[in-house]
Amino acid sequence: MKYPIPRGTFDILPESSYKWNYIESLFKDIAERYNYRRITTPIFERTELFERSVGNTSDIVEKEMYKFQDKKGRNFALRPEGTAGVVRSLVDNALASQGSLAMLWYMGPMFRYDRPQKGRYRQFYQYGIENIGSHHPFIDAEVISIGWVLLKTLGLKGFELQINSLGDDTDSAVYDAALISYFTPYKKSLCQDCLNRLERNPKRLLDCKVSTCKEIAAQAPNILEFLSDDNQQHFHLVQRYLKLMNIPFIINPRIVRGLDYYTHTAFEFVTDSLGTQNTLLGGGRYNKLVEQMGGKPMPGIGFAGGFERLMMVMEQEGCSFGKKPLPQAYFIVAGDVAQEPAIKLMQSLREQGIALTWNPDKISFKAQMKSADKSGATWTLIIGEDEVAASTVTIRNMETGKQQAVSISDTDIIAEYILNNK
Ligand code: HAM
Repeated sequence: MKYPIPRGTFDILPESSYKWNYIESLFKDIAERYNYRRITTPIFERTELFERSVGNTSDIVEKEMYKFQDKKGRNFALRPEGTAGVVRSLVDNALASQGSLAMLWYMGPMFRYDRPQKGRYRQFYQYGIENIGSHHPFIDAEVISIGWVLLKTLGLKGFELQINSLGDDTDSAVYDAALISYFTPYKKSLCQDCLNRLERNPKRLLDCKVSTCKEIAAQAPNILEFLSDDNQQHFHLVQRYLKLMNIPFIINPRIVRGLDYYTHTAFEFVTDSLGTQNTLLGGGRYNKLVEQMGGKPMPGIGFAGGFERLMMVMEQEGCSFGKKPLPQAYFIVAGDVAQEPAIKLMQSLREQGIALTWNPDKISFKAQMKSADKSGATWTLIIGEDEVAASTVTIRNMETGKQQAVSISDTDIIAEYILNNK
């Protein structure tokens, strides 16, 4: 009996895992360069944590959570995103007390029950950044710049940074009222989702993908006209810092983001190579979330992006994923007598940091030579009866075809050959 993989999930197979390693380690390097440190939180949390943070009116909480009860009847959900768990941990562990900032990065699987399509999965992998504790607009620009440097360093070209400001609660309430009076006369033409949104979260109408709703939304009031002077000034300064950093952007007043915790700056890096799932990464400020999660009032800002979408666009644009890992050396061991010295040498070389391999199931010299060729290793180390008799190993450079006998006890010299590729 075969078991099919769950819909909307995928295996990361060995031949492509070096690509994942490449993006992961680049993201880690860049985040650490900005002085961010890793945080890892559980894959499941209390369902209520997501309901209260991501928000009851978001699609994620309304329709997309994987919920379950444990044996004691407690309600949990697989995390649909990372920010809620990070903020829970920040509050639990007082990570941003005494006026210090919490500067955190994370990566791992997230889960959303949505209709799978290109760039959208039920289990997907996010990398993310959270900076908690500062109101300063420079921090907004700095967080955005991490995303920018990541995409640029990966070699991506066809992407655009779009920014917006959602203001604070007061701005938002006035704007919501303006949206309600704008959309109400069109009620008959709106989709069912938008009718619900009109009651519960009118800003989400700006996000609808249904063409009639989109047409109506095109003329809707612009949030930027509803910002208080202070919030306008904040947004203005974010733009100023981005310009100082030479990061190009466009202002898109339609960015509302699908999660309820956002305030002030919201941003997305979008690409036109992915069809409808065109957001490579997205984020924004959440100045009320920490307090809402039981912490002291504290502002925050962050973003997250999906690895899969990055990978797809990188493949489409022909970006490099670094070198495919290959063994440095391949062992050919001919005859039983050769096994003992060969195994001792392998162990010693591995302890010296050399990547090597041997296939003990391949018996004939010819078969082993063929495998050595296929393995892509630069060096072949041959130990047969002659070598055993002379206490040597034959080292062959597979690129030049040159080979040489070296005393098997000179492991340093053997290692040097391989490490220095001489
Ligand atoms: P989000 O916009 O829901 O934000 O997701 C961020 C990114 O995760 C998306 O831009 C996309 O690249 C990827 N993503 C989301 N859903 C899927 C899916 N079903 N399949 C594949 N990729 C997906 C958040 O998650 C916020 N927590 C971001 C944030 C951090 N805001 C502040 N801090």
